Amino acid sequence: MMMRAGLSALLLVIVGGLGASATHLIWHHENRDDTKGVSYTDIAGAYHGVTADAPLVRALNRNHPPELPEASRKVLIDWLASGRISEDYDNIDLGDNTPGAIIAANCVSCHAADAADPVARRIPLKYFDDVKRQAFAKNIQPTDIKILAASTHTHALALGTLSIALAALTLGTRFAKGLGSLLIGVGGIALLVDLGAWWLARGNEIWVKAILVAGPAYAVSTGLSCLLVLADLWLPTRRTDRA
Ligand code: HEC
Repeated sequence: MMMRAGLSALLLVIVGGLGASATHLIWHHENRDDTKGVSYTDIAGAYHGVTADAPLVRALNRNHPPELPEASRKVLIDWLASGRISEDYDNIDLGDNTPGAIIAANCVSCHAADAADPVARRIPLKYFDDVKRQAFAKNIQPTDIKILAASTHTHALALGTLSIALAALTLGTRFAKGLGSLLIGVGGIALLVDLGAWWLARGNEIWVKAILVAGPAYAVSTGLSCLLVLADLWLPTRRTDRA
């Protein structure tokens, strides 16, 4: 009985640890881009890095809005490329058509919190603080390689050991052949792919997708393995097993 209680407690510690990992992951990654919650950009930024043009530059370059006079479009594009975005926003030395005046005249009818367009409304451009948020290119650098090495060394050794011990326990249960083997297989492969992809993603962004699949797959299969062992400890044994 004591053995069962102790083992069960340890398995619950592992399940709790998986929950803590998920929480840590959300808190650690969610603020890398400017949108709330963990997005693809957050994860891609951490493992590969992300660079993207400023939304304003993107919009102007795809000829949005089409009614904007070409001269005004050029003023805005030059201003965004100038490196003097704050300084020149209202700089009348640039002529009557300051970037601020152009935006007020050509954009705010749709891009303001009280405008009618439900999509454009969510990208307000009325005040400089709003404009600023759309005016800068995104440049997220991947996690420092030394930190990645430190993180890999703790994760690989700790999770590798954990999974081998859990696999041994799972093999001792009545579920060893079917579900147990499946979980051991998925968990082991997922851990290798996840940790390997942390490194491969630096060179090739495609591996970010592997992280997004393998990380959760490892966590889920490990959690389920714990539940299998717990179930085997506490469910009544079948008659055939006892014989
Ligand atoms: C007639 C309404 C209207 C006007 C005027 C307008 N927009 Fe938009 N804008 C939209 C709508 C609708 C969207 C979302 C759909 C889309 O992306 O086309 C959008 C999207 C955007 C986006 C985000 C999408 C992207 O391309 O990255 C930016 C940035 C933007 N507008 C900037 C501007 C600027 C700068 C001006 C003025 C020079 C302007 N808009 C004028 C309606 C408008």
